[in-house]
Amino acid sequence: MTTEKKRIVIVTGAGIGIGAATAKAFGALGDHVVVTDILEKEGRETVAAITGAGGSADFHLYDVRSTATTGALVSNIEARHGRIDVIVANAGIAHRTPLADLTDEKWDLTFDIDLKGIFRLVRAAAPGMRARKSGSVIALSSIMGVAYGWDEHVHYSAAKSGVIGLVRGLAVEMARDGVRVNAIAPGYIRTAQLLSEENSLGPAGAEKAAEFIPMGRLGTGEDIADVAVFLASDNARYMTGQVLVVDGGLLVGRY
Ligand SMILES: NC(=O)c1ccc[n+]([C@@H]2O[C@H](COP(=O)([O-])OP(=O)(O)OC[C@H]3O[C@@H](n4cnc5c(N)ncnc54)[C@H](O)[C@@H]3O)[C@@H](O)[C@H]2O)c1
Repeated sequence: MTTEKKRIVIVTGAGIGIGAATAKAFGALGDHVVVTDILEKEGRETVAAITGAGGSADFHLYDVRSTATTGALVSNIEARHGRIDVIVANAGIAHRTPLADLTDEKWDLTFDIDLKGIFRLVRAAAPGMRARKSGSVIALSSIMGVAYGWDEHVHYSAAKSGVIGLVRGLAVEMARDGVRVNAIAPGYIRTAQLLSEENSLGPAGAEKAAEFIPMGRLGTGEDIADVAVFLASDNARYMTGQVLVVDGGLLVGRY
């Protein structure tokens, strides 16, 4: 199938973790996936996994902190494929930093990637989506942005809460143009981010967390990817401005 008949899906941070699983899920559906990351080797591995399974994908080295690169990426995709149908704005960092050490630079870095990175890509892709009266944006928030405070991650919790406001504002502004904007707030998902001893729970902490998650296990990248697929689909056609918590019951079950 040529890419003319396929949906064109961009996933940021798609070399590893939730982004890689999401890219593969869209690839398995027959969409063309634009795999982007600052991790070139891992990004190319995601592309190879998609094409090896008979799907369609290409890789772009893309840092969500650059406005110029964002514009160039969107122009490039629109020139080659004619449009962008779905954005999964997944790239994110969660650096552990106690308040006493939380310099302006550290705060700004997290906001630049986890919040402004989403805004930059949507701003660049919005004119094309609005002109075609069609598009779906899915942004990654977190339970740490929806409900929990996370000690030594004040900047992360603040940025992930910001994602919710961003999604609501964008959703209302673009609703009449046929563009839907939603967020996913994952719980504890088994990825490099969660398993980092330095920045998050680490392997032992993650296993302990699994015990108090009502469903009895950590999430997988695929658990999040399948919800992204749903939000991008016509089955979610009347949903916009929403945040879906995907956490195995953690928020409702831990008191
Ligand atoms: N793992 C969890 O438990 C969890 C929970 C809630 C929310 N999230 C969010 O889900 C998203 C994916 O997380 P993950 O667990 O897969 O993390 P991960 O660390 O495994 O992957 C993050 C990806 O983002 C990319 N990235 C980082 N900085 C970038 C930049 N400047 N430009 C482009 N790409 C960049 C990384 O290279 C990597 O591919 C993040 O936004 C994260 O905050 C994760």
